[in-house]
Amino acid sequence: MQPDHTLLIIDDEEVVLDSCTQVLGGGDCRVLTAGNGAEGLQRIDESPPDLVFVDLKMPGLSGLEVLERIRARDPLMVVIVITGYATVSSAVEAMKKGAFDFLPKPFTPEELRLIARRGLEHHRLVQQTIALRREKEMLRENFAAIVSHELKSPLGAIQQNLYVLTADLEDKLSEEQKTLCGRLKIRIDDLVKLIHSWLRVFAVDINKLKDTFQPVAVAAVVAKAIESVEPHATRKAIPIESSLAASLPPVLGDEGSLTEVLVNLLGNAVKYSFPDHPVRVRAEAQGTVVVLAVADTGVGIAREDLPHLFQDFARGQTQPEGAGGCGLGLAISRRIVEVHGGSIGVESEPGKGSTFTIRLPVAAPPAPQPSPNPERKA
Ligand SMILES: Nc1ncnc2c1ncn2[C@@H]1O[C@H](COP(=O)(O)OP(=O)(O)OP(=O)(O)O)[C@@H](O)[C@H]1O
Ligand SMILES: [Mg+2]
Repeated sequence: MQPDHTLLIIDDEEVVLDSCTQVLGGGDCRVLTAGNGAEGLQRIDESPPDLVFVDLKMPGLSGLEVLERIRARDPLMVVIVITGYATVSSAVEAMKKGAFDFLPKPFTPEELRLIARRGLEHHRLVQQTIALRREKEMLRENFAAIVSHELKSPLGAIQQNLYVLTADLEDKLSEEQKTLCGRLKIRIDDLVKLIHSWLRVFAVDINKLKDTFQPVAVAAVVAKAIESVEPHATRKAIPIESSLAASLPPVLGDEGSLTEVLVNLLGNAVKYSFPDHPVRVRAEAQGTVVVLAVADTGVGIAREDLPHLFQDFARGQTQPEGAGGCGLGLAISRRIVEVHGGSIGVESEPGKGSTFTIRLPVAAPPAPQPSPNPERKA
């Protein structure tokens, strides 16, 4: 029968190696032995075992040194240290350095079997976690590939053709048909936007943005974001007001992505607000950061939703009727802000409104004191 597990015992005492081999060997375990640290490390390099026992007190490389070198090679390898009476404090140190457990000498066969079983179970769980992570990663990649190849391109083609067709038929369509076409466009635009969000989360490596960072004028980001959200806000009769401190220092980043963040926040503020309740954007420098805040007096967010809002697909329980979305806007925004070395947070009270605040490090040392007239209303 092929053994299921490989154990390695590293100890300078031959009698310990022999007795451990006798107790643990046979059945589903193969036991390898090494008489010193260097030999043990060589065995690990040749064929990584599932579980390592290492004596702390050995001539040459000590058990602690062996442990450190094992962890440097493979931080997840399960290592149990064997200690003599005199080395209990080293056992504690070994645990701090990542040993799974320790076995004081002298030990009975039953104690050895028990600790080996626990070590192997831990190894199994670690391997299972790695496999699950790998599977998740593959699903993510497959999902991104499917979405982009199977959905994004044909949907983009449908969207374009629909626009061309409705423009060509402008004079021939009845009012009712035009309304239907308008609805079709909205639904397809929403779908394209949804796919764009999914791909942003699953396929785009936001870290790569860093390669093209440049000083970005915050006022330009605010202006572009407002321009993008304004049609929707106007339709809902929600005014957007901005109040930017004069001579805001630039931040180092990617203008398009920072605008995307603000569009998400402003879009939410409008989506989760009521007619005639203005949405306010404020920006000011505070030391070496620029603080951007988007405040609304809309539905607000339940306290228990606050810790999860920035996670993928998280949606709060206070959803006004017809407020669509897939819970990705804030997750994408958080990733973008963090890649800029910044942070994003929220304060909210149900029924009273929410304020989302972004802090971004300025691109250069802060400019000299702003002029005496710091506030400008747009
Ligand atoms: N200004 C706000 N007021 C009240 N609730 C908000 C506000 N902004 C976000 N939320 C809550 O946070 C949740 C997550 O927001 P997020 O922008 O990530 O997703 P979404 O708006 O639901 O969908 P989408 O992916 O289209 O942005 C929302 O579903 C909503 O419950
Ligand atoms: Mg949103």
